[in-house]
Amino acid sequence: MKQDIHVNAAPLLGPVPSTLLISLVARARGSSLYPWLDPGDTQAQQMLQNMGDQALAVLQDHPSVLNVLWRTQLIKQIGAAFFTHYPQAHGVNLGAGLSDYFQWLNNGQNHWLDVDLEDVVILRHALLPWHSEAAHDGSVDLTQPGWWQQLPLNDDDKHKPLLLVCEGVLMYLTPTQVKAVIREIGDNAPEGSELVCDFMTPLGIGHADLAPSVASTGAEFLWGAHNALEVARLHPRLELLSQHTVAEAYGWASCWTEMCMTPWTGGPMYGVAHLQLSEP
Ligand SMILES: C[S@@+](CC[C@H](N)C(=O)[O-])C[C@H]1O[C@@H](n2cnc3c(N)ncnc32)[C@H](O)[C@@H]1O
Repeated sequence: MKQDIHVNAAPLLGPVPSTLLISLVARARGSSLYPWLDPGDTQAQQMLQNMGDQALAVLQDHPSVLNVLWRTQLIKQIGAAFFTHYPQAHGVNLGAGLSDYFQWLNNGQNHWLDVDLEDVVILRHALLPWHSEAAHDGSVDLTQPGWWQQLPLNDDDKHKPLLLVCEGVLMYLTPTQVKAVIREIGDNAPEGSELVCDFMTPLGIGHADLAPSVASTGAEFLWGAHNALEVARLHPRLELLSQHTVAEAYGWASCWTEMCMTPWTGGPMYGVAHLQLSEP
């Protein structure tokens, strides 16, 4: 199974980059399981068609599909609200994989930048239909010190509020790497920028086996946070705007159960932190 995914669907990718296939397939096909969360991701559908059905093998559990569709819907909403405030701003997706938020968030005035590891950017170019002059991509390794300076943004854009998205990425980095990524953002992002990132409970660390789709890629969970406040505390410029839990997608009974367990778990099993960068 692991070999099929690597050889047929994404020949250049290692275990962590291969996890992009989970999000891709979930966005392209997940609406058959969760129609109310259908993102209408025509780009993902097109890419999956170009890639061939063998990529479907990566999806091996339903919760992974729900996680992706739920956070996609949430990030779309947060992004739309951000661009209402800053219609000409730049969105930057850190570890974008094959996702394309600009298909939904393009307002004709804003800009978008997707960055990921070089092999992934090559795959994006091969698979993703070009659709806008205002969308760009670039190779950036978030674990390399000083990566912020390599973002292909001009100086002017680096001084206006940015929408920063980092989804499905941090849990695959070590705690030291996550701190360094957040430090890089906190030390450099302009005041008023917003960061949306997901996190899972530290109880999940080392347990990719509980998420069969992730396990099928060979990737492992290395970092977790008890709640969004813990993420905000990684840098003094980060202010928590809101915390969201995937339990919302399962209904009130799940939210209630999760709330009752909070004294032991510290927060959501899987959540999204919406943060803002305060003044330097
Ligand atoms: C689960 S995928 C998520 C992709 C995308 N954010 C989404 O939700 O569809 C994880 C992504 O993180 C990227 N990634 C992992 N480590 C990275 C690093 N050091 N620098 C940049 N991207 C990285 C992988 O290449 C992969 O595209």
